[in-house]
Amino acid sequence: SDLDAFIAGLPKAELHLHIEGTLEPELMFALAQRNGVAIPFATVEEVRAAYSFSRLQDFLDIYYQGANVLLTRADFRDLAIAYFDRAAADGVVHAEIMFDPQTHTARGVAFETVLTGLMDGIADAEARHGMSVKLILCFLRHLDEADAFATLEAAGPWLEHITAVGLDSSELGHPPEKFARVFAAARAAGLRLVAHAGEEGPPEYVHQALDVLGIDRLDHGNRSLEDPVLTARLARMGMTLTVCPLSNLKLCVVDDMADHPIDRMLREGLRATINSDDPAYFGGYVADNYRAAAAARGLDRDDLALLARNSFLGSFLPDEAVAAHC
Ligand code: ADE
Ligand code: ZN
Repeated sequence: SDLDAFIAGLPKAELHLHIEGTLEPELMFALAQRNGVAIPFATVEEVRAAYSFSRLQDFLDIYYQGANVLLTRADFRDLAIAYFDRAAADGVVHAEIMFDPQTHTARGVAFETVLTGLMDGIADAEARHGMSVKLILCFLRHLDEADAFATLEAAGPWLEHITAVGLDSSELGHPPEKFARVFAAARAAGLRLVAHAGEEGPPEYVHQALDVLGIDRLDHGNRSLEDPVLTARLARMGMTLTVCPLSNLKLCVVDDMADHPIDRMLREGLRATINSDDPAYFGGYVADNYRAAAAARGLDRDDLALLARNSFLGSFLPDEAVAAHC
C-alpha cells in the first residue's frame, strides 16, 4: 500500500536491536554446519515453530541456545552484514546495535573475536549502504556484578569503538541497582548509558534506571505508563524510549497489537521510537514494526514521521548529524 511504501522510504535510525537476535534460522543452520556445532532442530520450519513465547524468559532460553553457532570472527561479520542489508532495505540510515559479549565469552569465544567480527560488518555497511553504526555493549543482568566488571575490563582496549553500555536479559529479580557501580565505571570511561527497564519489570525499575544508573536512553519502558508521575517526568526530561511493538506482542508485554500503547506514549509527550529488538525471533524488521503499529493503532504519516524523527533525536549522533537527519 501507499503507507507501506511511505514507511520503507522514511529515513530512520534503529536504536534497539540485539545483533544476536538477528540470527535467522537459515544462517543458524549454515553456521552450525560450517562450525560443526550440533543444534537441536532438523529443519528451518522446526526452528520457526519453536519461536512461540509466553514471557521474556521463554525467548531468552532459545535465543542464548541459538547463539551457540557463533564462534569465529567471520560468523559475527556475516551475522552483522545480513542485518545491515535488511536494515538498509527498510530505510535505516543509522543503527545503534547491541551485543551481548558474555553470551560468547562464557563459551570460550574471545571478546576480540566478537568485536572485530562486528567491526568488519560495520565497515561493510558503511561502504555499501552509507549507513552509520554505533555499538552498545550490553551486560547480562542475570549474571553478577563481578562478571559485568570483567566484561567492561575486556572491552578496555576497544573503548573507542564502543559508544554505550546497556543492560539486558531477565529483568524480573534483577533490578538496575544491581549494576550501579559498573554503570558508574562505564560513565567514568566516557561511555553513554542505556538499560532495558519496564518491559516486564515494574515502574520502580525505571525509577532506578534513571536515579541509580543515570541512563541516557530507556529501552522499552512500557510499564512506565502505570505510573503517571514517572510518565510526566520522562516526558519533561525528553527521555527517549526505544519501543519494540512486535517484540511486545511475541513476549506478551501486550496481549494484542490493538492494545499497544505507542500512540498513547506520543500523546503523553514521550519521545517514543519504533525498533525491532530481535527481528529473527519476533517476525519482522524495523519497517514491519512501523507497519504493525500503524495498522493496529491507526497511525498516520505525521505520527510515523514523528517516530522516525524521534529516532534521530534519541540517537547518540552528534548534534550536527541529528540536525542533518531531521
Ligand atoms: N535480550 C535480547 N532481547 C531482549 C529483550 N527484549 N529483553 C531483555 N533482554 C533481551
Ligand atoms: Zn531488547
